[in-house]
Amino acid sequence: MEKSEIEEQKEEEDQIVNPWEVTAKDGGKIDYDKLIDKFGCQRLEESLISRVERLTSRPPHVFLRRGVFFAHRDFNEILDAYERGKKFYLYTGRGPSSEALHLGHLIPFMFTKYLQDAFKVPLVIQLTDDEKCMWKNLSVEESQRLARENAKDIIACGFDITKTFIFSDFDYVGGAFYKNMVKVAKCVTFNKVVGIFGFTAEDHIGKISFPPVQAVPSFPSSFPHLFPGKDDLRCLIPCAIDQDPYFRMTRDVAPRIGYQKPALIESSFFPALQGETGKMSASDPNSAIYVTDSAKVIKNKVNKYAFSGGQESIEKHRKYGANLEVDIPIKYLGFFLEDDAELEHMQKEYAAGRMLTGEVKKRLIEVLTEIVERHCRARAAVTDEMVDAFMAIRPLPNMFD
Ligand code: TRP
Repeated sequence: MEKSEIEEQKEEEDQIVNPWEVTAKDGGKIDYDKLIDKFGCQRLEESLISRVERLTSRPPHVFLRRGVFFAHRDFNEILDAYERGKKFYLYTGRGPSSEALHLGHLIPFMFTKYLQDAFKVPLVIQLTDDEKCMWKNLSVEESQRLARENAKDIIACGFDITKTFIFSDFDYVGGAFYKNMVKVAKCVTFNKVVGIFGFTAEDHIGKISFPPVQAVPSFPSSFPHLFPGKDDLRCLIPCAIDQDPYFRMTRDVAPRIGYQKPALIESSFFPALQGETGKMSASDPNSAIYVTDSAKVIKNKVNKYAFSGGQESIEKHRKYGANLEVDIPIKYLGFFLEDDAELEHMQKEYAAGRMLTGEVKKRLIEVLTEIVERHCRARAAVTDEMVDAFMAIRPLPNMFD
């Protein structure tokens, strides 16, 4: 029997990364170098990170120093313009598919908060309640409810209300935003979205028509209350690299409708507790640390599930040391332990077998508990009025201050 082109492609493809599926080759790790080649984005070089440090007069975020954000498109152009005194705006988003967020969900928002503070620029946050309604088979009402709940977690990350507009697609799509969606949609054939996203003829047309919704926040004219007369303002999108297909499409279309291409800064994926080959799965609560986990639950999850690169006996561990390549506690500390010197010390001692897995896990439990408790306190302080205030369609007169 003849195979379809897509099937052949799937067999050839060693790894699959798109907004709906992240699968490494044969249960291995995601090969990020290959992904950069395949997607055609650029590696985030050391020289760009030093430039960020110079331009913002503050140390680069841990996620930059440790390579969590590792790829980009035209970020250098954003910095060139910034150096000449031209500001930009930030755009990121979340598909509200679940009530409880895990730490992986917070990463783009923590990083976006740093970018907003460091560059002093406005930010738009899209809650794609429509997307999740269509993909996750949630009702319209439930998707909208989750969007508001997730907005509280996002606000808890510390965004500046004088510079931040949060919107839900169900509430905001229309007017100038919708006009831009139609302009984009006219430039993208069915064949094109099949090529980019892998849609099939069996997918409902809601899915096929969605990509323009995520595309157009990249254009300042989609926000006439924020950026009137600023059609040449550039957009920078911090996101995980699985969102790249949306913005490849956006960048392809932009010049054809007279708009600037958005720039991107892209992160790798936050690994599951069970190891980098595993996926954090919504159906397995033990694969991730949730922002709602108590100190006791965090301790138990780390001790019981965090995949260790240590040896199985103390004697062997002292002799051979830990394999840091596969060790989850060290990986997680790489994301969340701010102190470079302490991390380096732990890596060295652990790899040499002088430090034991238990000690590394103990430090990780402290670090994670502090982050989660801080987040919980901040989220508890977010009121419905604050959500309304962030989501109000309003000008932000001080957004570049
Ligand atoms: N599709 C994304 C998700 O499912 C949500 C999203 C919308 C987004 N716009 C974005 C993510 C821009 C990053 C950048 O989570």
